Amino acid sequence: MKRRFPSGPVQAFLIIMTGLAFSSCSSSERQAAETVDREAFIALGDSLSLLAQKTLLQNVSGAIAKGGAAHAVAFCNLRAMPLTDSIAYKNAVTIRRVTDKARNSANALSGEREIALFRKIQDSLQSGSVQPHYLLEDESGRTVYYKPILLAMPTCLQCHGAPGKDIEAATLAEIKEKYPDDEATGYIPGQLRGLWKITAAP
Ligand code: HEC
Repeated sequence: MKRRFPSGPVQAFLIIMTGLAFSSCSSSERQAAETVDREAFIALGDSLSLLAQKTLLQNVSGAIAKGGAAHAVAFCNLRAMPLTDSIAYKNAVTIRRVTDKARNSANALSGEREIALFRKIQDSLQSGSVQPHYLLEDESGRTVYYKPILLAMPTCLQCHGAPGKDIEAATLAEIKEKYPDDEATGYIPGQLRGLWKITAAP
């Protein structure tokens, strides 16, 4: 969904027309328009997070098949962000993965609202009421899409499970070398590993 904005007089015309349209818009019509926007954003978030997840999984599985988990660590280190960034760029959004216990500190939760949402989702997971996605208004008033990433596959344990049991020594050594402050081990199946976070590009 690439948005193109016209410039110059056309833009001025559109701004005036939009203003007129809104001033004559009843509050129920406005609410309906907001609902459509919300639903469209959720649909976009659902499809892009699914695509990003599939792309990462395919790539990490391919790297494991080719050179084992230790080799795949180096692959994730170099390729995880560029892969999601290229999907984001094509769709005029930013796509990130955020978490409370990060491997890459660039993926740490940010802001009180995000931290509170993460805790809420963790609690919902325990009580069996977790939703497929969440919308949150961030500190600067932007609506952000989030989708829980569960540790749902045995493959994930090879790099996020228990060191020495699920994670082989060579893989652990590679993780420690690339991420000396890694916090993302010790997970068990079904836990909340992180959230997809999708924001419309400014
Ligand atoms: C081959 C090792 C490997 C496997 C297998 C693996 N990961 Fe990771 N994971 C990594 C590395 C390395 C990073 C850091 C990537 C970066 O630098 O952006 C990471 C980062 C993440 C992050 C971002 C948050 C953070 O901690 O930085 C999430 C979420 C995540 N992995 C979930 C999963 C899930 C779910 C699976 C199973 C489907 C999985 N991973 C399988 C190595 C792996």
